[in-house]
Amino acid sequence: MTLAIDSERLQSEIEALASISDAEPPAVTRIVFTPTDLQARAWLKERFEAAGLAVRQDAIGNTFARWNGSDPKAPVVGTGSHIDAIPNAGKYDGVVGVLGGLEAIRALQRDGFRPKNSIELLLLTSEEPTRFGIGCIGSRLLSGSLSPDSARKLKDADGKSVDEVRLQAGLRGELEEVKLPPGYYKAFVELHIEQGPILEREKIPLGIVTKIAAPASARISIEGAGGHAGGVLMPDRRDALCAASELILAVENAARTSGSIDTVATVGICDVFPGAVNSIPSRVRLSLDVRDTDLARRDAVMDGIERASQEISDKRHVSVQTEMLNADVPADCDPGIVQALSRSCEKHRLSFRPMISRAYHDSLFISRVAPVAMLFIPCRNGYSHRPDEYASPEDIVRGALVLAETLASLSA
Ligand code: GLV
Ligand code: MN
Ligand code: MN
Repeated sequence: MTLAIDSERLQSEIEALASISDAEPPAVTRIVFTPTDLQARAWLKERFEAAGLAVRQDAIGNTFARWNGSDPKAPVVGTGSHIDAIPNAGKYDGVVGVLGGLEAIRALQRDGFRPKNSIELLLLTSEEPTRFGIGCIGSRLLSGSLSPDSARKLKDADGKSVDEVRLQAGLRGELEEVKLPPGYYKAFVELHIEQGPILEREKIPLGIVTKIAAPASARISIEGAGGHAGGVLMPDRRDALCAASELILAVENAARTSGSIDTVATVGICDVFPGAVNSIPSRVRLSLDVRDTDLARRDAVMDGIERASQEISDKRHVSVQTEMLNADVPADCDPGIVQALSRSCEKHRLSFRPMISRAYHDSLFISRVAPVAMLFIPCRNGYSHRPDEYASPEDIVRGALVLAETLASLSA
């Protein structure tokens, strides 16, 4: 095989997709089931069909673009990722896995490869938690990690349910039909930017993921007492934002003192009510995101945060309520796929290193029903979830090439 990735076309597609956005360039914002997301999906569907792939969508909008193999009964080899983007994000998160996956398939087609197992490119719905508070809705449903009933209870900030917005988006069928039958995938490989600094720092072009960290997230609601910023004396205050501030520092401290660099914790949302300069904050809503490669350590950090909440609540006479949104377990990547990826790198004389994914990905959930592995490419300064996220065309080509080679070896 003399596989060749069409870098120019891939770059122009990445730019074209980035222009379907609700943010000023270079930022990208593409929230699930907004008109912008639907426009991006329609644009992609055309591209999938132009590549001769048979496209179907399930009831949550996971999109499967299939290159039929010579053995239709053989389990499918999957690849793909997501195209939704958090507010003020970049061009590459998720997109490299979808458009890089498409180009990998086209490169195999150009090369005259005939797959035995069908190869399927997946576009997964709502990997980002922006709209419904929980990430990976598509892959959770696909793998049975989220029940249809729990999915139906999810609401966005305007009180719209998942069912309401998916039906408005023209998706038909029942959420019960989304779960894949057992044994559907022989293997699933996701190409993604690293979203961390290691590959760039070590000047290694490719990372093969062996483990995906375990994320947990929660909404925390703090209720104190409001009042006049001039009239209420300091000893009499039950300021919800002061309590929240202590709690945010306790979150940071819990992660910093876990004993491992693999523990990370973030409060990314802080909504203050009523939000007036001369009014004491009576209510604060925080988001909490804690991750670790070690489940017991992640849970110990969550317990530490819960104890801190209790102490702050007692000391400041405020109520602190924690609503857990998800507490997922880490995933081990499949040694067979890891080996297939390593061989593909070796075949193309590309150096690589094993890695841990500290970010979560759809592969974390697909791993519940299929063997998975991930391939990382470097991104500048490790930046992600920000407008200056960047992966070089050369790195993207290397990722797509190794992905193509691996898909071929898994489906031969
Ligand atoms: C996914 O985008 C994550 O937050 O890890
Ligand atoms: Mn992301
Ligand atoms: Mn991503």
